Amino acid sequence: MKRRSLLSLAALSGLSAAVGACSAGPRTPSADVAGFTNQLRIPPLARPEAGVDGSKRFALELRAGGRSRFLPGKTTETWGINGAYLGPTVRAARGDRVRMAVTNRLPESSTLHWHGMRLPARMDGGPHQMIEPGATWAPEWTIEQPAATSWFHPHPHERTARHVYRGLAGLFLIDDPDGPRLPGDYGVDDVPLIIQDKQFDGDGQFSGNVDGGTFGLLGDTILVNGTYLPAFQAQTESVRFRLLNASNARVYRVGFADRRSFQVVGSDAGLLERPVTVDRVKISPGERAEIVVRFAAGETAVLDSRGEPAEQANDIEEGDFVLLKIVAGAALKPSPEVPAALGGTAPEPPPAGARVRRFVLSGSEINDRDMDMSRIDEVVPAGALEIWELDNTTYAHNFHIHEVAFRVLEVNGQPPPAYQAGPKDTVFVPKLAKVRLAVRFGRHTDPLTPYMYHCHLLRHEDKGMMGQFVIVEPGTESRVPRTLAGHRHHN
Ligand code: C2O
Ligand code: CU
Ligand code: CU
Repeated sequence: MKRRSLLSLAALSGLSAAVGACSAGPRTPSADVAGFTNQLRIPPLARPEAGVDGSKRFALELRAGGRSRFLPGKTTETWGINGAYLGPTVRAARGDRVRMAVTNRLPESSTLHWHGMRLPARMDGGPHQMIEPGATWAPEWTIEQPAATSWFHPHPHERTARHVYRGLAGLFLIDDPDGPRLPGDYGVDDVPLIIQDKQFDGDGQFSGNVDGGTFGLLGDTILVNGTYLPAFQAQTESVRFRLLNASNARVYRVGFADRRSFQVVGSDAGLLERPVTVDRVKISPGERAEIVVRFAAGETAVLDSRGEPAEQANDIEEGDFVLLKIVAGAALKPSPEVPAALGGTAPEPPPAGARVRRFVLSGSEINDRDMDMSRIDEVVPAGALEIWELDNTTYAHNFHIHEVAFRVLEVNGQPPPAYQAGPKDTVFVPKLAKVRLAVRFGRHTDPLTPYMYHCHLLRHEDKGMMGQFVIVEPGTESRVPRTLAGHRHHN
C-alpha cells in the first residue's frame, strides 16, 4: 500500500508544475523551475579611480526613487547604490589603500557600514557615522585582512531594516594576491548570490512590515541579486558561488535539489583551512559562505533552500524555496581542482585565563539592556583574544560583531560543523542555545568611537538588540569614559 502510493507520486511528479508540487516526496527539477527564465543579474564591478598615492577611490551613491523590474509587467519602487537596486560589487586586495566617497541622495539620513571589514571605528559606518541627505562621507583605510566575501549596508539606528529591505546592500570582495587558485572569473565561474526574501503587494511594490512580528519580515518571494526566478548559465566544470544572506530575518539551508555535495571553501571572514564537503550550508542574515560546485555538461541543476527537518526545526520559520536554476553548457571549460590547502588558518586555542564576557540574549535585549548610543558597554584591549559567551534565553537570534574575526568554539557544548569552523563575524544562535566564541580583536584603538555587536535579524537590531564596544590601548581600560557626550539616550 505504502509502496504503491509512493510509486504513483513519483509518476505524477514528473508530469507538470500545474498539478501542484507534492511536498512529501522529492520534487523533480522540471516541476520546480519551469518559470526560472530570468537571467541571473550579476552586480557590476565598481570601477575605482586610481589615486596618485596608489589608493583606490570608490564613489558610492545611496539613491531613492529607483524603478526596478522584478515581477513580470510590474515596476517596483526601490532604493539602490549607484543604481536602482542593490549596489555595485567593490573589489580590492589585501594591502590596498581604499578611499570611499559615500554620497547620500536619500530623502533621509543613513550610513554605510562595511560589514566584515577590519578598520578604525570612525570608518566603520555604524550608527555614529551618519550621512545627512546631500552629504558625502569619505572614510579611508588600508585593507589588512585575508581574502573574504564582505558586504556593505546602511546602519542607521532603528532604521536599518527599512533601508536594507528597500535595496541598499552590496558586496565588498577582498582578494589576496597570495591566495589559493580558486575559480575567480567574476560573473563567470566566481558568482555572487545575494539572497533576499520579499513580500510583494498586488501592484508589485515591496510590502510587509519589516518592523512587526517577532522576527520582522519573512517574505514568500526570493530575489537573488535582485533577480526574480533567476537562471544562470554555467560555462565551466566548477563554479564558485559566494552566498550572502542579505535578508532581514530569514535563515536558509542552501543546497541542491538532487542532494549533490559541494565544497565549502570560505566562511564570513575568510577561507577555510581546507575544503569541507557537505550537501547543505546554513546561513542566517549577514552570514556568507563560499562554495565550489561541479556541473556535468548539459545538465540542469537546482539550487534551493530546505527548512530543517521537523525534529531540529527552529522556531524561526525557514521554509522551502528554489533559489536558482543552473543550466550547464553543452561543453564546459575545465576547472582546476580545489586545492587541498586553502591557506586559511586553524583556530588558535584561546589562552588559559582569556577574558570571558557573557551576553544574555532575550526578546530583544542584551544583558537586560536596550541599545543606548551614549553608553559604552564593553571596553576591549587592542589585539585581545577573548571568549564571548552567548546565552540565548528565548527564540532564535544571531550575533554579529563589528571589526573582528571570531571562531565558533561550541554551540550547546558541541563543536560547530567543520564548514562553520573558519573565520566568521556572524553566527546563528538557535533558540535557548549557548554559543561560545573565541574573538580576536584588532589593533585600531579609539576610546571615543564604538563598534557595534548585535543581533543581525534586522527587526531585533532596530528594536535595540545591540551593544557598543571600544578598542583601547591595553592598560588604559579603566580610564575610558563609559558615556559618550553628545548622544541622547534612546529608549
Ligand atoms: Cu551587517 Cu552591524 O552589521
Ligand atoms: Cu558589521
Ligand atoms: Cu534577534
